[in-house]
Amino acid sequence: MSAKVKLAVFASGSGSNYQAIDQSIRAGELDAEIVLLVCDQPNAKVISRARQNNLPVFLFNPNDYQDKAEFEEEIVSELKAYQVDWIILAGYMRLVGATLLSQYQGRMINIHPSLLPAFPGLDAIGQALEAGVKVSGVTIHYIDSGMDTGEIIAQKAVTVENEMTHDELQTAIQHVEHELYPRTIQQLISEGDSF
Ligand code: GAR
Repeated sequence: MSAKVKLAVFASGSGSNYQAIDQSIRAGELDAEIVLLVCDQPNAKVISRARQNNLPVFLFNPNDYQDKAEFEEEIVSELKAYQVDWIILAGYMRLVGATLLSQYQGRMINIHPSLLPAFPGLDAIGQALEAGVKVSGVTIHYIDSGMDTGEIIAQKAVTVENEMTHDELQTAIQHVEHELYPRTIQQLISEGDSF
């Protein structure tokens, strides 16, 4: 039996996508293992979710470093120590820099709560409501040096109902995220198998 593909999840917040990926692995739908959580927020809920699962956490404070290159170098050495194959950004609210990109471009993906290229950046859900669109959704894309600009891998639309609140649209979008992200990761991993 070949070794499982090793994932590192990067997150800054609640970690509901981390949990969905973890559950999909436990259910036998995603043939991979999460070996490390990378987090930049000491109070993020994702940390307690990871600790409950005995998952190693690399928690860093960007202010302790001179610049992005310096903390990304430390992240890269953690990733190497855990022999990480793919980086899964799941609510990691930070632009990835050249140091991580040079090592993991093509094996680093992100999920974003809009149909990119619409509404990149912060609060995509608020942006969609403000614009009055009737359809928004979810995008999974490769990471490049831009803000939510990398090649699109998968998208799914979500209807924006009349008078929907921010919370309601977020719930509808996250419902889609929790199904689409594990399924897309599985597809990418199995494509990799055929090389
Ligand atoms: C997700 O909805 C994800 O799409 C979004 O952050 C949320 C994290 O939720 N990401 C971005 O906005 C990236 N630009 P979670 O911590 O519960 O997984």
